[in-house]
Amino acid sequence: MTMHRVHFRKENVTIHVPDGANLRDACLAHGVDPYPALGGLASCRSKGLCATCVIQTPEPGSLSQPEKRERKALKKFDASIEGLRLSCQAKVIDDLTVVTDPDTEPAWKTHGYYSGRYEHSWNQPD
Ligand code: FES
Repeated sequence: MTMHRVHFRKENVTIHVPDGANLRDACLAHGVDPYPALGGLASCRSKGLCATCVIQTPEPGSLSQPEKRERKALKKFDASIEGLRLSCQAKVIDDLTVVTDPDTEPAWKTHGYYSGRYEHSWNQPD
């Protein structure tokens, strides 16, 4: 049986899973929580609808191709963010690195103007 190495960057955990393993199931089986909060209590339980199980990988080709439902769910994220996948829908087909709870805010939203850290010079008192 072909095995693949999955490295979780934030957790610094490396596991080995059989070819075709569901990524979410592999996470949970090895103590890696793919959900940002509450351990997935508010999730859709692997139906590919809620997108709370989203992960990011620099090697998207190491996961199965996203099907229609997953592609639709991923549209809620900014298209400029690469490598996002729903862990509950993705199957591992090669070695890869995974970032759980990735930053899904587009770059423009993290600019100080939108986060309240930016002050216009014309607002400054003389
Ligand atoms: S658990 Fe809801 S989309 Fe993955």
